[in-house]
Amino acid sequence: MANVAVVGSQWGDEGKGKIVDWLSSRADVIVRFQGGHNAGHTLVINGVTYKLSLLPSGVVRPGKLSVIGNGVVVDPWALLREIENIAAQGVQITPESLIVAENATLILPLHSAVDKAREEARGAGKIGTTGRGIGPAYEDKVARRAIRLCDLADEAVLEHKVDQLLFHHNALLRGLNAPEIDRAELLAQLREIAPRILPYSAVVWQRLEEARAQGKRILFEGAQGAMLDVDHGTYPFVTSSNTVSGNAAAGSGMGPGAVGHVLGITKAYTTRVGSGPFPTELFDDIGELIGAKGKEFGVVTGRKRRCGWFDAVLVRQAVKVGGIDGIALTKLDVLDGIEELKVCTGYRYKGEVIHHLPAGQTAQAEVEPIYETFQGWTESTYGARSWADLPATAIKYIRRIEELIEAPVTLLSTSPERDDTILMRDPFQG
Ligand code: IMP
Repeated sequence: MANVAVVGSQWGDEGKGKIVDWLSSRADVIVRFQGGHNAGHTLVINGVTYKLSLLPSGVVRPGKLSVIGNGVVVDPWALLREIENIAAQGVQITPESLIVAENATLILPLHSAVDKAREEARGAGKIGTTGRGIGPAYEDKVARRAIRLCDLADEAVLEHKVDQLLFHHNALLRGLNAPEIDRAELLAQLREIAPRILPYSAVVWQRLEEARAQGKRILFEGAQGAMLDVDHGTYPFVTSSNTVSGNAAAGSGMGPGAVGHVLGITKAYTTRVGSGPFPTELFDDIGELIGAKGKEFGVVTGRKRRCGWFDAVLVRQAVKVGGIDGIALTKLDVLDGIEELKVCTGYRYKGEVIHHLPAGQTAQAEVEPIYETFQGWTESTYGARSWADLPATAIKYIRRIEELIEAPVTLLSTSPERDDTILMRDPFQG
């Protein structure tokens, strides 16, 4: 029985929440391995909607162990707020059902302040971050001055780390003529949160190893998507972590062999929030229609998502760099009723035809999509539960996508409801 890693294959918001929830009902342990509360997952279970940011999607299912791995940046205030909010919906979270890696990096209030201030200073060149302090927290991590969860239990180290952090950040703030961060206030905030968050702290790699030894099924839950990966995405318009499945191992403390089957969640069209290149973006009525019908607004920030045609070049690239074994295709029904559909099969760049997204910023902005046109379908595919329920032209669209991206459609999601899923192959069977 293989473990499964679920990752986004576009710019995030592919509908991972539903698929992860569906798979988590069949897993024992659900692990977040990167990102932070910039992610937004919507789950609809028995008509009740749950919106999660930092918590693994498994938390809403009793009897599962939810894990926040070392690769995640954890804002303890945001985490406790989320735990309270979900408790108000009747889901109780305890240190028995949720553990957080003791070596996870913390997001501090200063990180979101820096994130927002820098975005403002960038003006037109802004990245369009979620403003949650993700980038600044990862910067502190790789600069080896971050406060980690375990530091909250060690007063001497905590004080020393706060000094190191403020030495760096206050020097910058002084240079910007901005108010400096008060040492005593930050320490007081950290001392106040420590006893509330530390009960969740655990030696995650060890707990995961134990689970593996007992033959438990582990589900690795990715956030964002391959095109937001800090190495493989549309840099610098990316998030600050590796979103590809390779990071599921390092971000949770397991070897690559533990990751198992990689399922890439893929929307039947393309969306992106924030700035940056988007070759198949639509600026017309069809783009508006897709956005409205697909309810394309961010879960975390409420921002309107940019919409466009399916880009097979990008998804094929995500399949290759992310080791995606199969895809879960979502939101096909949003395309119901559109007379003619387009899929990008290559780019024209400087008079040549290319089949990859180049790394350079100018090239990414200048590539022109080459489209293949498909006849649409008038029937509704919403809620379809078998292949036989799908119109022939929809099947043709799916088959051509499989060919172009060089990966099979492992499952097809036809509505936000869990049971509206057509399974072609069980990801847990490898
Ligand atoms: P950050 O992760 O807040 O630093 O934002 C960097 C970029 O990633 C921005 O374009 C965000 O809109 C995007 N982003 C971050 N998290 C998500 C997500 O969960 N879904 C879609 N886009 C995201």
